[in-house]
Amino acid sequence: MGSRIVATGRALPRTLVSNKDLERYMDTSDEWISTRTGIRQRYTMRQGESLADITAEASKIALNRAGMKAADLDAIVVGTVSSEYGFPSFACQVQTRLGIDTIPAFDVAAACSGFVYALSVADSMMRAGDFKRVLTIGTDALSTMVDWNDRRTAVLFGDGAGAAVMVHEPGPRGVLTSVLRSAGQHWNLLAVRSTGIRSTIDSEVRRDPADSIQMKGPELFKIAVKSIADVTKQAAEKAGIDIAAVDLVVPHQANMRILSAVAERLGISQEKVFTNIDRYGNTSAASVPIALDEALEQDRIHDNDLVMLNACGGGLTWGANLLRW
Ligand code: ACO
Repeated sequence: MGSRIVATGRALPRTLVSNKDLERYMDTSDEWISTRTGIRQRYTMRQGESLADITAEASKIALNRAGMKAADLDAIVVGTVSSEYGFPSFACQVQTRLGIDTIPAFDVAAACSGFVYALSVADSMMRAGDFKRVLTIGTDALSTMVDWNDRRTAVLFGDGAGAAVMVHEPGPRGVLTSVLRSAGQHWNLLAVRSTGIRSTIDSEVRRDPADSIQMKGPELFKIAVKSIADVTKQAAEKAGIDIAAVDLVVPHQANMRILSAVAERLGISQEKVFTNIDRYGNTSAASVPIALDEALEQDRIHDNDLVMLNACGGGLTWGANLLRW
């Protein structure tokens, strides 16, 4: 095998925003948000907070749990679309916060599929043989890119970071397969221009609506269900594994109804699908590693379990990784 996750960590902004809090900002209700999406609260960035700091915190937790120092790493791969800078990359900003130098650090831009893509890239690098210890991260702050007057998008997103320490390891455990897909022709179902200020929930200056996240939710919903189910089946088939043998699915947390519809299509019980969308909302690339970290904390994953990660997001992009834990 090429690589195995040996430890994870997560970190969040300090501000917790409940659905009730959002009722003060826009014409919405806790009832609508929770029944249509499953979301009850989310953590959002405030003025002066840095996503790179939060990501470094998640990374340090993962490194500490792995019993490693940042200096032991051979590379940093970050799934994100939330860099404050066009360049340098977000990964370079995390690298300097970890106090290390010279190892390659770069971003993978696949929106909500960012971690699934980054994990596949990190695994391939380790299979190729040049890298032994890679820090793989999913991190995003889409709440800073919404129009806070647009109830159709603003209620969905939360911010955060999740990190995984991966090591090269021969043997039966680790990443069995990854399948990645993109469909650029659907780019305008979910998009945001790279111009415009970051407008946190507490900032006085508001982002121009034209520079805010634009989303065609119902179309996206249908494509997401089909594409996540298809790619999950393909990842299992590629590994020669019956989907019924998967012990736990750790999906991107976009919408509770998407998660239920995917499980139904795959013929797997809801108990096998880890969900925490009620407490975090859609944290984009951070959602899979945050969910993985929580699933481990809750003892939902045991040695040798088959764990499926899957996601779909802007691009459109989608993908799945099958891991033998
Ligand atoms: N509060 C109250 N009412 C609302 C809100 C809100 N926050 N948002 C929309 N509505 C209203 C609409 O205005 C509309 O009212 P109308 O009929 O009077 O015009 C009504 O609710 C229904 O709107 P729809 O958009 O049809 O609602 P739908 O049931 O499709 O749910 C949602 C919208 C939650 C966005 C859903 O389409 C969805 O989850 N789509 C997937 C999008 C997604 O997950 N994007 C994240 C990134 S992509 C990914 O991660 C897979």
